Amino acid sequence: MRIQLDVTESVQNYVADHSLREPEVLRELREFTGAMPERNMQISPEQGQFMRLLLRAVGARRTLEVGVFTGYSLLSTALALPADGVVTACDISDEWAKVALDHCERAGVAGKVDLRIGDARATLATLVAEEGAAGSYDFAFLDADKPGYEQYYEHALTLLRPGGLLVADNVLWSGNVVDDSVQDEDTRALRAFNSKVYADDRVHISMLPYADGLTLAVKR
Ligand SMILES: C[S@@+](CC[C@H](N)C(=O)[O-])C[C@H]1O[C@@H](n2cnc3c(N)ncnc32)[C@H](O)[C@@H]1O
Repeated sequence: MRIQLDVTESVQNYVADHSLREPEVLRELREFTGAMPERNMQISPEQGQFMRLLLRAVGARRTLEVGVFTGYSLLSTALALPADGVVTACDISDEWAKVALDHCERAGVAGKVDLRIGDARATLATLVAEEGAAGSYDFAFLDADKPGYEQYYEHALTLLRPGGLLVADNVLWSGNVVDDSVQDEDTRALRAFNSKVYADDRVHISMLPYADGLTLAVKR
């Protein structure tokens, strides 16, 4: 028998009331982004706090982020990194990334952000092939276009050190991955990505039915 809590709105509110500690700078960024039509792309404050916990638990110094948007996960990461930490952050939109960088500056953590504007496929390939960064990252967060996940995952695995942690967001895609009537490109890409990671013995994994579905993978 499976025991799965029904996460009602009251339970979610209880969780927030008894665990959420959102720094003021993140609250401001969340509210700023909340006025934008694309606001649903932003991770939740609970997920940002979970990422900060993971980063501290693994003692991350060098991290990779694929998919910045206005920077909630980026600012969460920069706040959790030590003073000499660096997050290499990839996005194709300089307009959204500028919002992210502005908020990191306001929070006094912009010095930890190495922002790379362009298709993340090319950025990650450059880190591997031209910058000699393979095996040098402690943590990677995938949250960009879903058809890119398989490529981002391959590059990120190369860039992570053994024992490094990868987190892939949206792996349940509002539950669409289990609905065969949904056959759009993003959903099919996520199904293929989930099958690939499940079969991949280069990593230890756990898929969490949390937020929009998170896969955690530790490189062996
Ligand atoms: C879901 S949002 C990221 C949300 C962000 N992590 C947050 O906490 O608010 C996805 C982002 O991926 C970016 N993106 C889409 N395709 C990309 C690509 N090929 N390379 C780099 N970034 C890409 C989009 O511009 C967008 O900002």
